[in-house]
Amino acid sequence: MTLTVRHYTTDQVPEVRSTLLEVYAEVYADDIASDPFAGVDRFAGGLDGWSGRPGWSCAIGYDDEQVVGYAYGAVLPPNARWWGGLLTEVDEDLVRETGTRTYALSELMVRVPWRKTGTSRQLHDALLAERAEERATLLVRQSHPKVHALYESWGWRTIGDLRPRIEHAPLMHAMLLDLPQH
Ligand SMILES: CC(C)(COP(=O)(O)OP(=O)(O)OC[C@H]1O[C@@H](n2cnc3c(N)ncnc32)[C@H](O)[C@@H]1OP(=O)(O)O)[C@@H](O)C(=O)NCCC(=O)NCCS
Repeated sequence: MTLTVRHYTTDQVPEVRSTLLEVYAEVYADDIASDPFAGVDRFAGGLDGWSGRPGWSCAIGYDDEQVVGYAYGAVLPPNARWWGGLLTEVDEDLVRETGTRTYALSELMVRVPWRKTGTSRQLHDALLAERAEERATLLVRQSHPKVHALYESWGWRTIGDLRPRIEHAPLMHAMLLDLPQH
């Protein structure tokens, strides 16, 4: 398998939006079937919100012309709502946002045939390699300890517990990763 990663920004969303939704519908099929908050329409609303944010970028992986998965995120604004649900007390400088400091990795998903092949790490690295921010953040569900452990094995550190201020939001681990300075 030869993985090709292509990068997209906000003005290219119309080109890739349906692909991103199709992959979501496949990867999260079980959640969609059992959880009304995991529906494709709701995810589409989230995608539209995220892809309109400053600094949104997306890396899509292709094996020949087959889409294998993707990752996307955007830059946190000053006073980001992202940190609003933090339940652990941390130094206030740790969550101080400037609008150029932190890239939030919002989604990373890989279709089943390409799991355990290194594809997820390659997509993650390709997305973050293009970023100029000093660090990245992500939230991972505390009910998914194996995914949490995977991120820790990639160098992410856990800074505390966070429950997004959205109705029915699950308890998450908030994580940070220092990015190489360009
Ligand atoms: C997360 C992901 C990209 C990692 O891909 P990968 O590096 O190839 O690693 P794996 O798929 O083997 O996942 C690592 C472990 O986490 C588990 N895991 C992955 N996604 C999970 C999920 N959504 N819920 C529960 N466990 C999950 C896997 O079963 C695996 O456990 P195992 O080692 O016992 O088999 C891929 O598993 C995926 O697309 N998962 C669904 C989407 C998702 O959960 N994304 C992360 C959001 S923070």
